[in-house]
Amino acid sequence: MSAEDARPAFTVRIEPAGWEYAARGEQSLMAAARAARIDLPASCRNGTCRTCLCRMVSGQIRYGIDWPGVSREEKAEGYILPCVAHAESDVVLTVPHARKLPG
Ligand code: FES
Repeated sequence: MSAEDARPAFTVRIEPAGWEYAARGEQSLMAAARAARIDLPASCRNGTCRTCLCRMVSGQIRYGIDWPGVSREEKAEGYILPCVAHAESDVVLTVPHARKLPG
């Protein structure tokens, strides 16, 4: 087992659907959702287009890039970009347009 594998996985819950999946710190919240066959709205997947902007109801994240495209006001209101956000705790996100992928 590598050091990365030894990191704890956190639980991410997508509201209002109530779907849950595990995310390890090295995976973005979006990449982990994909692995769990949950599709979050996305375009660039690199923190610039803001297609994935959604509200974090609870939890802590860190960003994998220095300047994610979220304003200070949006951050204060809990908005995050899951394509470049990594879980630092269990996280609850509100993503009304999330959908389950077949398979
Ligand atoms: S998909 Fe473009 S900012 Fe997240």
